[in-house]
Amino acid sequence: MKQDMIVILDLGSTNNTVLAREIRDLGVYSEIHPHDITVEELNALDNVKGIILNGGENRVVDGQAVEVNPAVYDCGYPIISVDYPGSKCEKQYTELPDTDTLKSFVFDECKAEANWNMKNFVEDQTELIKRQVGDRKVLLALSGGVDSSVVAALLLKAIGQQLVCVHVNHGLMRKNESESVVEVFKNQLHANLIYVDATERFLGKLENVADPEEKRKIIGGEFIRVFEEEARKLDGIDFLGQGTIYPDIIESGTKTAKMVKSHHNVGGLPEDLQFELVEPLKQLFKDEVRACGIELGLPPHMVYRQPFPGPGLGVRCLGAITRDRLEAVRESDAILREEFEKAGLDKKVWQYFTVVPDFKSVGMKNHERCFEYMVILRAINTVDAMTATIEKVDWEVLEKITGRILAEVENVNRVCYDMSPKPPATIEFE
Ligand code: XMP
Repeated sequence: MKQDMIVILDLGSTNNTVLAREIRDLGVYSEIHPHDITVEELNALDNVKGIILNGGENRVVDGQAVEVNPAVYDCGYPIISVDYPGSKCEKQYTELPDTDTLKSFVFDECKAEANWNMKNFVEDQTELIKRQVGDRKVLLALSGGVDSSVVAALLLKAIGQQLVCVHVNHGLMRKNESESVVEVFKNQLHANLIYVDATERFLGKLENVADPEEKRKIIGGEFIRVFEEEARKLDGIDFLGQGTIYPDIIESGTKTAKMVKSHHNVGGLPEDLQFELVEPLKQLFKDEVRACGIELGLPPHMVYRQPFPGPGLGVRCLGAITRDRLEAVRESDAILREEFEKAGLDKKVWQYFTVVPDFKSVGMKNHERCFEYMVILRAINTVDAMTATIEKVDWEVLEKITGRILAEVENVNRVCYDMSPKPPATIEFE
């Protein structure tokens, strides 16, 4: 490994990731580890230059305060503590040190080098992947989302044709999205890519299913079945590539923090399909994943793509999915994205999309009564998707989008703008 590292030991702080981010922003790699790390585990980490004992409000668990393993003090690393009254350090801080203090610790005391950058990361990971995989093969479900795309590009660089990508088009992708995955990975990067058009199969299973949870279960379950069928057709695959990133691991809970949400990726594969995991992005924050994608030469539209739910347009074509409404969602979404890009809103707004409810309203087209669907526009800003506020889009932009949707999208005679924050509304409708 090329990167020097500052280890943060989690003694019940809620700010571990903030601190890790600050240190990485100084150009020095930082990882969060549990408070009870052993000396052997610590010594097994590459290039540790210093340690921060990061205490805080969760340090007392069930009336018992967690303590760092005392042997850590004797390992010879520079060490400071934050909000940890029982600490035996020389230097103790009651709150997160300011940037100058942090710099002085990282560079003057720990003598760390600012060598954390994506070029070094890609070089290191390429070596590590080669070492792990050898001459064997890796299977990867390539959805076209940011994480799976960056993993694919990284694995491709490391092991080339030993990587087998499977892209399942469930028929609920945005306009031109599957085409773009094939264009970039198969035609431009020459990846070994299996493209499965499972549209009919998914839409068949979803026919007349109106309950949102039932729809999600069907889409998730069917995805695993299609992927499994493809995996069984292939010989000699030992590894499964996964786009797990650092927040997935941290949000799955540490020893002191409560679980925020369970970490899931291509979970649920049958037990007899046994793969070892390759997760080369598991130490990266989302913006670092994007920077890694750019370093690997992926197109910016793929790397800066807004979040898109796994069940895709299926949860935006409300109620029981019908093909006419699904097309209306897809076409209106494409128009919204085009107009947001023209207005520069694509760089400003966190997530924006359209939904089509499963009821009609009366209107007039060509001097005749019509009875058609409506498109609802939604544009929100958030930091962590737990709460969200709406974007106050200019009327002119909204009118332009409305005009285009009414003129270009079939079966639609009305456009509305969703004004609801989260909570009480969620970002998606289903
Ligand atoms: P909600 O609707 O819960 O959405 O406010 C929060 C964020 O999560 C995204 N989302 C999903 N992402 N698989 C995903 O990968 C899903 O099933 C899923 N459902 C919602 C949603 O788009 C928003 O960014």
